[in-house]
Amino acid sequence: MKFMIVGSGGREHAIAETATRSGYEVYTASDARNPGLLAMSKELHVVDILDGAAVAKVAHNVQPDVIFIGSEESLFAGVSDTLRKEGFNVIGASQKTAEIEKSKGFMRKLMEKYGMHGRLRFKTFSNINEAIRYIDEYPGSVAIKPTRQAGGKGVKVIADIQAYLKEEKSHAKKRHVSDIVEQKLSKDLEDPILIEERVEGVEYTLQCFTDGTHIVPLKMVQDHPHAFVEDIGPETGGMGSIAGTGNVLPFLTKRDYDTSFDIVKKVVQAIKKETGEPYFGVLSGQFMLTEKWGPTVIEFYSRLGDPETVNVMPQLQNFDEIVNGMMNGNVANIDAKFEEKANVVKVVAPKGYPNERGMGKGHEVAIDFDKVAQSGSHIYFGSMYEENGTYYTGGSRALEVYASADTVEEASQKVEQAISHIKSDWKLFHRKDIGTKALMQKRQDQADLARDIFRYREARGLIGKTIDWIPGIGKIET
Ligand SMILES: Nc1ncnc2c1ncn2[C@@H]1O[C@H](COP(=O)(O)OP(=O)(O)O)[C@@H](O)[C@H]1O
Ligand SMILES: [Mg+2]
Repeated sequence: MKFMIVGSGGREHAIAETATRSGYEVYTASDARNPGLLAMSKELHVVDILDGAAVAKVAHNVQPDVIFIGSEESLFAGVSDTLRKEGFNVIGASQKTAEIEKSKGFMRKLMEKYGMHGRLRFKTFSNINEAIRYIDEYPGSVAIKPTRQAGGKGVKVIADIQAYLKEEKSHAKKRHVSDIVEQKLSKDLEDPILIEERVEGVEYTLQCFTDGTHIVPLKMVQDHPHAFVEDIGPETGGMGSIAGTGNVLPFLTKRDYDTSFDIVKKVVQAIKKETGEPYFGVLSGQFMLTEKWGPTVIEFYSRLGDPETVNVMPQLQNFDEIVNGMMNGNVANIDAKFEEKANVVKVVAPKGYPNERGMGKGHEVAIDFDKVAQSGSHIYFGSMYEENGTYYTGGSRALEVYASADTVEEASQKVEQAISHIKSDWKLFHRKDIGTKALMQKRQDQADLARDIFRYREARGLIGKTIDWIPGIGKIET
């Protein structure tokens, strides 16, 4: 069977590999000659993946049995709708339903309207001054975001708890709000600025396949969005990921998993009611375990995550069963089956990423594949290209190095070994702390703290309530 992938990153490389392992013949429509995808694909067609007609032309040429859309921007551009109209079998959300990712404002409004668990207080703005006034009057700390999905750019979370920094923080907030508008991070959306209440806790992702009614959740993964060790530095597209041996992350509980799954289910139902279209494709919840709700929604993806995909796909045992179900429009009674292994992925990026990508572009990288294989790890290609047998960085996240083992710590060590066999004259960096015992303990402590306060609040009927203390007025619960 012919399996066509639309996309170009490490995520698509992992999907291509999983499809090959599951007996499919892989074809790719991509806007880059990703060396990993090239190696996995019978044919790789370079094409503008935001142009539905161009992708459809490739599809008519390939005649695939099924098309899997990896890239969110393709979904936002309506590529799945065009392909479906032309009669192809597509796994990928329609343009209308992918709004759940594209517009964080749409997502927040939907959660509000349906009174869902895990929602946050928010407001969207088109006017910079109104947004700033709202922030100034806001009784707590806020997250300032472009309303539109901007690929990991533009979100600033400002913990405003030290009175002596009030002025500095106020300047920073104003600058972020202006940046969102001036840099057009929300592109075409009506209200480009989203201000939402800041919450605290430990983050994780639950990726799911859905036919619009039934849902097949994959195992939970934790992404590491910050550039540097100890979760500091700028936000990135994700510097690595971990997953435990079971479906539930080691520092979370079955209850956390069930609540998160239930939120995804309710969102699938609500999207159908709201848009009139079933959600058909992949829907992933990015959550934070907070004291306010337990599982709390940070955002939704209308596709698989990256670096989450590279973490779980290599262990997925019945991809073909899921794909068949999707092709028949029904995934009822299908459970994703995984090996009982813990997995770690670490991203290797060139110095310059994420803020000065131009600087990190065009540097030679030497990979000793034999030694990497000996370490028990595997490499997935991200932003890299090959010329005359030499690999060069593309400026963004270059490689994703994956290993599985009986424990997260062991898998992390394997990955470290593998990374020591990746060399460049340009500085490459990765997060050594991902999957270490120390960081796992920190996650456990963060989760325990959120859960303890959550239980305290639960016993007092305070779930989902925001409690503000306003001088001169007193306690306000909303
Ligand atoms: N309301 C919030 N409170 C606290 N932290 C947040 C909030 N929203 C986002 N964040 C932090 O910022 C990161 C990026 O925000 P997110 O909405 O996921 O945007 P992006 O599209 O950039 O991934 C999150 O992973 C989380 O760490
Ligand atoms: Mg995110």
